[in-house]
Amino acid sequence: MIDLSNLAGLPVTLDAGGYLKFGQSVIAPSPEARKRSDITEVLLYPEQSGPDILYHMYRATGLETDRIAMMNAGLRYDITVIHPGKIGSEYVKTLGHYHPMAPGQLYSYPEVYQVLHGKAHFLMQKGGDVSGEVEDFVVADFEEGDILLIPPFYGHVTVNPESQPLVMSNWIAREFSSVYEPVRARKGMAYYNVEYKNQSIFMPNDSYGKHPRPRLQKPGNLPEFGLYRGKSIYKSWQEGADLNFLVKPHLYAEIWGSMGIGAAQS
Ligand SMILES: [Fe+2]
Repeated sequence: MIDLSNLAGLPVTLDAGGYLKFGQSVIAPSPEARKRSDITEVLLYPEQSGPDILYHMYRATGLETDRIAMMNAGLRYDITVIHPGKIGSEYVKTLGHYHPMAPGQLYSYPEVYQVLHGKAHFLMQKGGDVSGEVEDFVVADFEEGDILLIPPFYGHVTVNPESQPLVMSNWIAREFSSVYEPVRARKGMAYYNVEYKNQSIFMPNDSYGKHPRPRLQKPGNLPEFGLYRGKSIYKSWQEGADLNFLVKPHLYAEIWGSMGIGAAQS
């Protein structure tokens, strides 16, 4: 049993079977399982064998005492467990998605992640929805405590490259549904993360015409949002970090601009 409470910001453990056990006074959602058969279209080797259940999502958790404040802020806190394994030589990963446009239609919703246990390869790409080409491809090789911003317009996938479970938390606006179709239609993201001679490598996905060289993102802090590496993103919110950028990204144009991200052209 692994205690995740410190980084999760609420009492929770990971049991030997890969399930979360929530402590007292915690909103304990039932896990939603994503199976290999649910994500066949996005696998590099869909016909090869691998684990049946790839990951479990525990959506909308938090402390009971924070329930109203989370609702009022329009935020949702989730924890996901990505089980270890490979399908052929491809590491277990999430299905992948983009986020829809936020109110005002200038930016799509951003998101913020934290690794609670294990190691993650977060893959992000800008562009590439339906027929467009990918203009930026980012790989974040992150470990326990590291935090990652998914900026507006970036589709994303999380990979578990290790032989232990990967547990991650995220804050996100509660009122939207992710957009899966573009990733399904292109058979995954612009690169697949596979193991070759015991090394993690990235193989281009032929469904895309262009493959910008993956850009490695180093872990760091997000002081503009009051979030820091090694500190629970849940606790930071409790202590006053302003996460309104997740709900109303159009109010943060200057920050997005400093990251080289402009508003959508109407
Ligand atoms: Fe997302």
